[in-house]
Amino acid sequence: MSALSIVSLVWMGIAVGTAVLLLRVVAPYGRHARPGWGPTIPHRVGWIVMETVSPIALLVPLAIAGGSGFHAALLVGLWLLHYANRAVIYPMRARWAGRRMPLVVAVSAVVFNVVNGTLNGWALADPVDGSVRFWIGVGVFGLGAAVNLHSDRILFRLRARADDGYEVPRGGLFEWISCPNYLGEIVQWIGFAIAAWNLPALSFAVWTIANLAPRAVAHHRWYHETFDRYPAHRRALVPGIL
Ligand SMILES: NC(=O)c1ccc[n+]([C@@H]2O[C@H](COP(=O)([O-])OP(=O)(O)OC[C@H]3O[C@@H](n4cnc5c(N)ncnc54)[C@H](OP(=O)(O)O)[C@@H]3O)[C@@H](O)[C@H]2O)c1
Repeated sequence: MSALSIVSLVWMGIAVGTAVLLLRVVAPYGRHARPGWGPTIPHRVGWIVMETVSPIALLVPLAIAGGSGFHAALLVGLWLLHYANRAVIYPMRARWAGRRMPLVVAVSAVVFNVVNGTLNGWALADPVDGSVRFWIGVGVFGLGAAVNLHSDRILFRLRARADDGYEVPRGGLFEWISCPNYLGEIVQWIGFAIAAWNLPALSFAVWTIANLAPRAVAHHRWYHETFDRYPAHRRALVPGIL
């Protein structure tokens, strides 16, 4: 087994441990921000820094090892597109005036993004099999990205209407679940893993589930505690199931 496979498997094991931890301790940012987590920084600054390191970490091993053909390059392009949105467009659109995040959250995210980007860049320095499975994965990635972007757009509009507070989201997959933006993100990275068909990409999908499934459960609970008439049929993350 290669060094990259061993590191990726260990990395996935850490993701599973993190998921167990996050089910008990909700990450303290956004609606779950609370005192007691040390020094804080402006939310927007933390967000831009932590999301910008990911494409850089991906590109460094690729720059060292050289490119590896069309299919790997396409996946690198999808990664860069995703992070152009996440690191630049998303924080420009979000209404975070006055909001802060604990430094420890930003530092944890930077560490995650450096390791995740490096492993995936290292893997994409090898050629990717361009079979039918590759294109199915790219399609799944696109579907997840569409759900994620559409759901984030609904939340941006809601935030503008809610005077920097929270309202019950409506429309799109919000009619069935509390966190379709998270579901879209998870589907997106599962699609990427199907297309890339390597352990680092699989570990990113596992990490995304580990980060976002516990948070979706926490958001869902928070909606029920905060809004008396929160739609009873709505699930947290997966329509009709979870
Ligand atoms: N791949 C990963 O591991 C990973 C990890 C984390 C996030 N992400 C992605 O990053 C994006 C943002 O994540 P997040 O955890 O910040 O998502 P979130 O909690 O759903 O919040 C998204 C944005 O909408 C606002 N918002 C949420 N619900 C609202 C409501 N009911 N009314 C009014 N405004 C509302 C939030 O404000 P507040 O911030 O003030 O609550 C925030 O600006 C998502 O697309 C997510 O998929 C990915």
